[in-house]
Amino acid sequence: MIGNRTLAVPGPTNMPFRVRQAMDVALEDHRAPDLPDFTLPLFADLKKVFRTETGTVFVFPGSGTGGWEAALRNTLSAGDGVLASSFGQFSDLWVQMCRQLNLNVTCIDQEWGKATPIDAYRDALAADKNHSIKAVLVCHNETATGVTSDVAAVRRVMDDLNHPAMLFVDGVSSIGSIEFNMDEWGVDVAVSGSQKGFMLPTGLAIVGVSERVLYEIKNVSTRDADTYLGCGYFDFHYMAETNRTGYFPYTPAMTLMRGLRASVDMLLEEGLDNVFARHHRLAEGVRQAITAWGLRNCAVDQANFSDTVTAILVNEDCDANDVIKAAYHNYGVSLGGGLSKVAGKVFRIGHLGWLNEAMVLQMLGGAEMAMRDAGIQFDAGSGVGAAVTYFTDTHAEKAKLLAAE
Ligand SMILES: Cc1ncc(COP(=O)(O)O)c(C=O)c1O
Repeated sequence: MIGNRTLAVPGPTNMPFRVRQAMDVALEDHRAPDLPDFTLPLFADLKKVFRTETGTVFVFPGSGTGGWEAALRNTLSAGDGVLASSFGQFSDLWVQMCRQLNLNVTCIDQEWGKATPIDAYRDALAADKNHSIKAVLVCHNETATGVTSDVAAVRRVMDDLNHPAMLFVDGVSSIGSIEFNMDEWGVDVAVSGSQKGFMLPTGLAIVGVSERVLYEIKNVSTRDADTYLGCGYFDFHYMAETNRTGYFPYTPAMTLMRGLRASVDMLLEEGLDNVFARHHRLAEGVRQAITAWGLRNCAVDQANFSDTVTAILVNEDCDANDVIKAAYHNYGVSLGGGLSKVAGKVFRIGHLGWLNEAMVLQMLGGAEMAMRDAGIQFDAGSGVGAAVTYFTDTHAEKAKLLAAE
């Protein structure tokens, strides 16, 4: 193919040149005497991205799924109660992992397209008088349906009821892109990965852990119980003790961490609030396009529309996979597919990471050509035009935001 492929999936995302260059280094000694000069400031700056002062952020070789497992294995014993909700592929897979680990899951099944059900969580927690629920799971941004849940509201419910469960959040497609406040929201474990908001190749599970969890792991004897799940590789305590000195319990993914240094620098230099505002604006451009096409967002409630990914429902007489195939084969554009229950019903546009207006227009233009090839009826150029109008109309607002920084 001549020219660039267009990566419009919700992760992996486009890798900035600066990140790529930062990883273009000779392999290095992970036990070098000066390694802590590199790692300790990186650990400290990662905390800024998670917005935690009291927590600790660990970087494991792995991916988001490994981060889910780390959260569960470090803190829970077989039979422990977990409250979760399934409303898309990723929220559902975390539930399935809980079941595989013999946790006692109360799962509230939601229509795909809806968000974490706050009222149902309230009811389940209120009914749990003996506090058998030890962890509450929230998928902050359900990548399969483009739905963002209200983590702060879940925390408020837990606080209102004085429920002592831990709060675990899947922030794989939100952290570094959508507002996420680990301390303010009282999140005990926040899971992310390297290939979305962090704009890196896949290969790191980036996991924020609260002071409370680290304290309990160290001081409470769950670990001695027969039912303790055990977590050799992802052991938070071992990682914390070793990281304190600037080193790792095993060979770390040094090259990816060189890239991570660059990506964290980019996020902090732009300013997290600007990063969130940029994502919101780009997402809004995509949403304007969908409306102009006469199609619908898979996310049901506007309040939960995701600023990192949009799943676009095609009409029932169409197969969304035809759009995805045409985009890929005819125009070199990778759109996200519909997963599981929404396979064939949606195609997804990932609009996160290292992205600007013109790159979004390229994605929308690619989607339009593929939609025409797949026989979807709409006015050619209408979505791109709506996004152009929105981006130009709001340009002054964007400039004001940047100047205020
Ligand atoms: C919200 C969410 N959680 C978890 C995962 C799983 O992460 P990984 O594929 O990095 O293991 C993904 C992957 O796309 C995701 O979008």
